[in-house]
Amino acid sequence: MFAFNDNWEFTREWKEAFLRGEGEAEAVRLPHTVRELPLHAIDNKDYQMISGYRKHFRLPEGSEGRRFFLQFDAAGHIATVYVNGKELLTNRCGYTAFRAEFTDAAVFDGDNLVAVKLDSTENPAIPPFGFVIDYLTYGGLYRPAWLDITEKDRIDDVFVYTPDLETACVRVSLDLSSGESAEEVILTVLDENGNAITQITGKPEEDVMIKCPGVTPWCPEDPAIYTLRAELQGKDTREVHFGFRAAEFRSDGFYLNGRKIFLRGLNRHQSWPYVGYAAPASMQIEDARIAKVELGLNAIRTSHYPQSQDFIDACDRLGLMVFTEIPGWQHLGGPEWKDQAKENVREMILQYRNHPSIILWGVRINESLDDDELYKETNRIAHELDPSRMTSGVRYLEHSSLLEDVYAFNDFTHTGDNRGAKPKSEVSNDQSKAFLISEHNGHMFPTKSFDTWERRQEQALRHARVLNDSTIDGEHAGCFGWCMFDYPTHRDFGSGDRMCYHGVMDAFRNPKPAAALYASQQDERPVLEISSSMDIGDYPGGQIGTIYAFTNADQVRLSWKDSSMEDFRFLWTCENKPYGLIPHSPIAIDDPITHTWGGEASVWKFEAVKDGDVKAIKILGGNGPMKLETIASSLLLEEKDTWDMAAVRVRITDGYDNVCPYVQLPIRFEIEGDAELIGPDIVTAEGGMCGTYIRTVGREGRALLTVKCNGMDDVRLTFDIKKK
Ligand code: GAL
Repeated sequence: MFAFNDNWEFTREWKEAFLRGEGEAEAVRLPHTVRELPLHAIDNKDYQMISGYRKHFRLPEGSEGRRFFLQFDAAGHIATVYVNGKELLTNRCGYTAFRAEFTDAAVFDGDNLVAVKLDSTENPAIPPFGFVIDYLTYGGLYRPAWLDITEKDRIDDVFVYTPDLETACVRVSLDLSSGESAEEVILTVLDENGNAITQITGKPEEDVMIKCPGVTPWCPEDPAIYTLRAELQGKDTREVHFGFRAAEFRSDGFYLNGRKIFLRGLNRHQSWPYVGYAAPASMQIEDARIAKVELGLNAIRTSHYPQSQDFIDACDRLGLMVFTEIPGWQHLGGPEWKDQAKENVREMILQYRNHPSIILWGVRINESLDDDELYKETNRIAHELDPSRMTSGVRYLEHSSLLEDVYAFNDFTHTGDNRGAKPKSEVSNDQSKAFLISEHNGHMFPTKSFDTWERRQEQALRHARVLNDSTIDGEHAGCFGWCMFDYPTHRDFGSGDRMCYHGVMDAFRNPKPAAALYASQQDERPVLEISSSMDIGDYPGGQIGTIYAFTNADQVRLSWKDSSMEDFRFLWTCENKPYGLIPHSPIAIDDPITHTWGGEASVWKFEAVKDGDVKAIKILGGNGPMKLETIASSLLLEEKDTWDMAAVRVRITDGYDNVCPYVQLPIRFEIEGDAELIGPDIVTAEGGMCGTYIRTVGREGRALLTVKCNGMDDVRLTFDIKKK
C-alpha cells in the first residue's frame, strides 16, 4: 500500500462543487483535525461541521487492468467518498478503518480526484451519538490513508489465532474478480528475526492448522511476535503479526497461557491537546510506552472505541494486554443505530483480531441499559468472527443480564472510607463467570495537578484502595482505573472549564501522585515519590499529618536537617504498608514534623531501601533556584508514511529536581528550523507542569526549540528531522 497522506485540500464548508475540484481550499496533511482547539474550555461546536477533503493524484504508469482501493484508517464520523465525481460509499463509524474500491472510476492517463464529505457533527444516526457524552469526538481524517493497487485476484483477509501455544490456525479469505479460481495459498510462519520456521500449503476460506513446535509464547514479560505470510501465487502476498498465547477469563480471574495474572490497567482516551485525535504513529507508540514503562501497567482499556492500529501494535510489542470495545456511551438509539452498532462489532473484530495484546472484546455500548436482543446478536457476531476471545461489555448496572463471558463493572462505590471494591456476589448474577472492574474513581474524585497535596494524595490512595480491596476475595480478574490522562469534555461533565480532571496524569502526560502509585507497582526500576513537599504552610494549622511514599522499596529511611546542621540526622525507618495486598503498598509516614509555625523550615531526606541498599533518594524542602526541565518524546522526527510529531513535557523544578506544584508561570516556546509548534507559544504551567508539541513540515533538517520562563535558564532542544 502507498501512503496517501500528503497534498490534501480541506474546506470547513462542504459544497457539491468541491468534489469537482472547484473553489478555494486549504492545503493539509493527514492525520488532520478539522479544527485545532485550545487546552481548556473547548466548545464542541467548533469541530462539529460538514467539511470536505480532496486530493488530486495520478495512478502509476502501466496500472491498467488492476484494482484500486483507497483505505482510510479513520474518518470522524460519517464519511462519503467520491472518486472522479462517482460516489463510492458512505462509512458510518468514526473509529474503524474502511476501504473504497474505485477501479471502475479510475483514470489512467490523467488526473484523478478523490473527495471526502465528512460529517463531524454529533449525528444521532450513529453511535456514540444521540444523547450526552463525557468526552469530545473530534472530527477529521485523523488517521492515515492509503492507496492500494492490487491484481484482479487478491487476498482480502488473513486471520490467525492460536488454539494452543504451538499451533497457529490460519484462515485466508480471497477476493477474486478475474474469473479464475484459487485452490491454494502458501502459508509461512516467520520468527521475530524474519526467519521462516514452517511453511505449508493450505486451502483458502478454510481453517488451516500449522504446528509450530518450540515457539515462544506471547506474555507481558516477553511479548514474542511472529509473522504469518500468506501468498496467493503470483498475485498477492499479505503479512500479519500474531503471538502464540491463550487469554482466558475463569470464574476466579484472568489466565494468560494458564498463568493467573491480575490486570492492572487504566482507561485511555486517544486525544491530545490542540490536535484532538489527529496524532501520528509516534504519539500512539509513546502513549503505550508511558503506560507500560512510566506507569508500570500490564493492561489498557481503549475507552470507548477502537483505537489506532499503531497504538495496538505497540501494545503487542510491549506486552500490554488490551480490552477494546465498540463506540458508544450510555445511549442506545433506534433500529438503524443498533444495526450500525452491530456493524461496528464486525469491523472491530475483523480489523483487530490478529493482535495478541487484545484479550477481550467489549460488545456492549459502554454503560448502556440491558438490551438482550441487541446484545445476543453482538455476542453472536463476536464469537462467530473470533472463536479465540471472550466477550464482555461495560456496565454500571448491578445484576444486569449477562450474555457475555465476563461481567465488566464500573465500580464507583468507593468514597474514601468504605471498602474499595464490591465483591462479585453483590454485582453479578452468575458466579461461574469472570468479573472485572472496568472503571473506578474518575468522577468520584476529580483531581487537578494544581490541587493541594492532600487532595492529590487522596486520589492516589483511592486508586490504591480499589486495587487492594479488589484482590481480597481473589475473584476480580483486574481493575482498569479511570483514567490515564485528563481530557476535554462536554459542559455536562467538566470542572467548569470543560475538562475532566480524572487522569493520573494531566493532558500533557505529566504525572500526578496517583501516577506514582501505579509506577511503584512494577519492579523494573526503582520508584520513590513523596505525597508532600514538606511545607507546613500548605496544611491546616501547619500539621502535615500522614504522608505517603509511593515506592517499590521495602522501607523508607527518613532524615532531616536545618541550617545549623552539616549533615542530615537520621530520624526513623518507615515500613508501615496499609495496602498489603497490592505488590507495593504506599508506605505511610506519620506526622514527620520537626518544626512548628514560627520556626525554621527543615530539609528532608527520604531514602528508598530495598534488600538493605538505597535505591532512590528524594530531598524535599531544600528549594533552591527554580529551573526548567524538559522531557522530549524523541529528538528524532521521521517523516515516513505521515508527518511526525514530538511531545515535550515541561516541568518547573526546585534545586532538588522536585516539581513545584504551585508555580503557575507562563512558559514560552520558540521554534526555528524545519518544524513548527502545535498550539500556542505561551502556555501556563499548571501544577508546575505543562507541555508543547512540534510537528514536521515536509522538510529534512533540524529544528531548535527554546523553552523559556522568566528568571530561569532557557532550555534548548535540537531535533533531527529525517524523511523516508
Ligand atoms: C463512567 C464513564 C466514563 C467516564 C467516567 C468518569 O461512567 O464510562 O466515560 O465518564 O464515568 O468517572
